[in-house]
Amino acid sequence: MPEREPYTIAWEEETGSIIYIDQTLLPGQYRVVRCTTVEDLARAIRRLEVRGAPALGIAGAMGVALAAVRSAEPDLDRFREGVGQAADLLRGTRPTAVNLAWGIDRVVRKVAMAASVAEAKALAIAEANAVAEEDELTCRRLGTFGEELFPARCTVLTHCNAGALACRCWGTALGVIRSAVAAGKDVQVIACETRPLNQGSRLTCWELARDGIDVTLIPDSSAAYLMRKGAIDLVIVGADRITRDAVFNKIGTYMHAVAARHHGIPFYVAAPVSTFDLARTEKEITVEERDGAELAYCGDHQLAPDGVAVLNYAFDATPLDLVDAIITEIGVLRPPYAESFRLIRKGEGV
Ligand code: MRU
Repeated sequence: MPEREPYTIAWEEETGSIIYIDQTLLPGQYRVVRCTTVEDLARAIRRLEVRGAPALGIAGAMGVALAAVRSAEPDLDRFREGVGQAADLLRGTRPTAVNLAWGIDRVVRKVAMAASVAEAKALAIAEANAVAEEDELTCRRLGTFGEELFPARCTVLTHCNAGALACRCWGTALGVIRSAVAAGKDVQVIACETRPLNQGSRLTCWELARDGIDVTLIPDSSAAYLMRKGAIDLVIVGADRITRDAVFNKIGTYMHAVAARHHGIPFYVAAPVSTFDLARTEKEITVEERDGAELAYCGDHQLAPDGVAVLNYAFDATPLDLVDAIITEIGVLRPPYAESFRLIRKGEGV
């Protein structure tokens, strides 16, 4: 472990680059990567070296700043055109997490406001850093609101990784867990492995164990049985996008929500306001489909016969009627969501 932990993703002022923890190597290897081109960043996002909705928002913002800073174009219009192309490249890397486009757009808007190339570069860096700094504050606020929903002693099931690694630090769902632990609550975490890319076993278990938070790994398929045995008090997950009618999150989330409702267990979502996309409904969202090789192989080891058809959705949608509360940095939203979502529209103009 390095002496000082960097954030999951950060802007490195001295070199004009992005540095991030390569999440594909965890838990075996902890490596911080320096990224100097937008093409490399786009590849890193596709490979999930940087992943998780809020971290993707920061990556998008910093990617546009990187394009701006590295541009040698003196003409403002042509400069903006180049930055716009970089933004489009980044936007196309992953379609489901709305934070990616949100982070990109924040910096593109600043570039559009600038009166010179030099000003555009300065504004782009400042805005990208603001996106990252706000993310930390957001996660901590959201954690404080969310921990109040936790009993003094509880066992909490989570899916995928909505932790420090999915944000600048602290996390959304895991941020709530961290805040509950910090408030003196006795919290045990059940982490679903999250096939096929194992963000739960590789990342959630790694970061919670490192913080000394009690975590037990289970196969995704154990969740309903543990609920039936009375071993789970509540479920908390993050989100990649929240539309007017559904929460998009890592594939497998929906089955936990169905099982939780069947067993009378609260199902909570923790997400920043930037994850809301209230102009859209479930049907309008593209759910990322990933390479079948992620299921058919484990590293070099073949798990399925050659040529078998594979369907590999990265996310699913959980209808809002299965969600007991959505924890945000502006408070805890409860059903009826048609009413509580008005707070989001008012506060942030989503
Ligand atoms: O494919 P990933 O690893 O980017 O998916 C991440 C998730 O589904 C997380 O649960 C979600 O982004 C919330 S992160 C705070």
